[in-house]
Amino acid sequence: MIDNAMCRMFGIDIPVFGFSHCRNVVAEITRAGGMGCLGTAYYTPEQLEVELSWIDEQVQGKPYGVNMLLPQKYETVGEPLDPAKLPEGHVRWQRQLLDDAGIPPLPAAERERMLREEIESMHITPEFADEIVEVALRHPNVKMVVSALGSPPKDILNRIQGMGIKVGAILGKVEHALKHKAAGLDFVIAQGTEAAGHTGQVSSMVLWPEVVDAVAPMPVLAAGGVGRGRQMAAAFALGAKGVWCGSIWHGTRESDLTDEMKQLLFKAKSDQAVQTRSKTGKPGRMLRSKYTEAWVQPGAPGTLPMPWQSVLNAEARLRIDRARALDYMTCPVGQIVGIIDNESSVRQRIQDMLEEFVDTVGGLPAAAGLAEV
Ligand SMILES: Cc1cc2nc3c(=O)[nH]c(=O)nc-3n(C[C@H](O)[C@H](O)[C@H](O)COP(=O)(O)O)c2cc1C
Repeated sequence: MIDNAMCRMFGIDIPVFGFSHCRNVVAEITRAGGMGCLGTAYYTPEQLEVELSWIDEQVQGKPYGVNMLLPQKYETVGEPLDPAKLPEGHVRWQRQLLDDAGIPPLPAAERERMLREEIESMHITPEFADEIVEVALRHPNVKMVVSALGSPPKDILNRIQGMGIKVGAILGKVEHALKHKAAGLDFVIAQGTEAAGHTGQVSSMVLWPEVVDAVAPMPVLAAGGVGRGRQMAAAFALGAKGVWCGSIWHGTRESDLTDEMKQLLFKAKSDQAVQTRSKTGKPGRMLRSKYTEAWVQPGAPGTLPMPWQSVLNAEARLRIDRARALDYMTCPVGQIVGIIDNESSVRQRIQDMLEEFVDTVGGLPAAAGLAEV
């Protein structure tokens, strides 16, 4: 058991926070004494209600969190995300890429429906964000809300905090950390460029202490490249009050990734987790594939701005998955993919991390040559 600011904030045993879109992973992190946080980006309010009710049953009163897209500005309000509005040149280029790779088109009779279903979840509006928040607030074990796109709008922030729920945000730059502090958030998550998903350019080693110093005494969680105890010890040495992990859960049996994707990740080395704009239009770290590589080859059209790049690649994702075209498959993953080489369980990963953390911290004076001083 560890007793520090973040453990006390949530009444948890260990300051290990875990992000996942998969409810099994989230519930198991919480059950193991840490705090799971469900990524809600792909859920409708109805689906989210089902997921949170399921997690409630599993965690038996223990706290967990939700991660939400709560932007201050909505660039596509009122504008349906219609694939017919995509630039013809981009559509043609992508179609040719997949045709040349021998990846069959979607069945004509089902294409429209499949694309609609895939794209529906991307249309974030203020009303949609409100509904998602309402669902989360109905679940008393939700004790943490993490914003994925900046500080939440003031009214939403007040509503959430008014219910005693703590609010944090993920950031990749010290300037953003200062904005979150000024907005009145309870904690921040400093995420280095090593991380999976949307990332900035600053490495964890540099970013973590910068943010810790800038927002003190506000607690900071360290994200980006944490998958084992030595990395957890480094996070504490650099001033963090806990760790926030995403990629490491990919290699667990609780993760809902397909076996094919897990096998690709087990084989991948750290440098195969690359920053690409090909998924959303913003730089995000993903497993390198022939699809991500194609976007940086000469002759590729530039990627589209968010959210149109996701609308464009919805069809590619569907075609690639249906054809089980392994070389073209990708998913968000950070550079620690290099240490994920076999399947384990969430609980085992946490236990391994804690054991190595305790050994590292205990052995540090000797390792640093200070034991005798
Ligand atoms: C598959 C996957 C999807 C992610 N999607 C989101 C997301 O929707 N919102 C978000 O704030 N962070 C997202 N992240 C980033 C995590 O919240 C976390 O900051 C990151 O994984 C930490 O770095 P690590 O991958 O090195 O552990 C995602 C991470 C993974 C692995």
